[in-house]
Amino acid sequence: MELKNGSYLLNKAKKGKYAVGAFNFSNLEQLKAILNAASKKNSDVIVQVSSSAIKYMGLNVIVPMATALAKDLDIAVCLNLDHGKDFEIVKQCVDAGFTNVMIDASSLSFEENVKITKQCVEYAHKFGVSVEAEIGSLKGVEDEVVAKESLFTKPQDAKKFVELTGVDSLAISIGTSHGAYKFEGKSHLDIERLKEIEKATNIPLVLHGASGVGEELKQKFVASGGKIGNANGVSDENLIEAIKFGICKVNVDTDLRIAFTTGIRNKLKDETNFNPRDYLLEGIKEIEYEVSKRIDILNKNRIN
Ligand code: G3H
Ligand code: 13P
Ligand code: ZN
Repeated sequence: MELKNGSYLLNKAKKGKYAVGAFNFSNLEQLKAILNAASKKNSDVIVQVSSSAIKYMGLNVIVPMATALAKDLDIAVCLNLDHGKDFEIVKQCVDAGFTNVMIDASSLSFEENVKITKQCVEYAHKFGVSVEAEIGSLKGVEDEVVAKESLFTKPQDAKKFVELTGVDSLAISIGTSHGAYKFEGKSHLDIERLKEIEKATNIPLVLHGASGVGEELKQKFVASGGKIGNANGVSDENLIEAIKFGICKVNVDTDLRIAFTTGIRNKLKDETNFNPRDYLLEGIKEIEYEVSKRIDILNKNRIN
């Protein structure tokens, strides 16, 4: 299939009470692994790149690569810019053929965030490209503890923001953070806040920082020779509950980085191996396994 826009996937998910996985990639192997897993599960999928991944790969190769691989699949695939910082990068990605873009001006004032987001929405919509924006901000463990109220998304702000910008989906802050070290103790999300945001906005909501960093993944990483300390992520139970109350897009990067590294490290234990196709294939297999597991969770309470 040709690449589909984000709204096509997310509005379906909202109706069907499930979430679409949005997985980051930085190379052909990771992209292939994500698409293989999603295709085997017959689940729509969002593949996404950060600005640093764009710098690493080159914008000119990303769209042709994703388009070519999606063409042979029966699932809907959306190509998203993750955390675009300004109008320029958003415009570049729209022009290049991305089918969804995220403008993340959440570190700016509410007014500035509205202004830039609106500009991106106006531009992207002309080309049928849907837009995700963010309000509230994701922080590390310490920040969350000291300034919970000011960082988490406020439902009334979210409502006003959606009305003023016409954005298609909204990333919110309800307790997650990026990376492998999300919670000091048990995983916890502010579900009451999520319910209020959903009621106030009624658009597909996005959970960033949604990697699970689960026991099996960590144990495999350590067994391969990696060190990961007391990393932990969003529990399956928390994620399922968040989807029940309005999360339609779930962003996962860290889990895939850990899985990929585990596979490669395992293969490279054979010191005589110097064939990249051999060891990268192990990385692909580990990503496929993680993506499949995540997709099962995202579809747990799916109704259609
Ligand atoms: O949301 C952040 C993603 O994990 C991307 O990270 O900028 O290192 O590619 P990156
Ligand atoms: P993780 O670090 O939890 O994988 O989050 C990724 C993300 O939100 C990408 O936008
Ligand atoms: Zn993110």
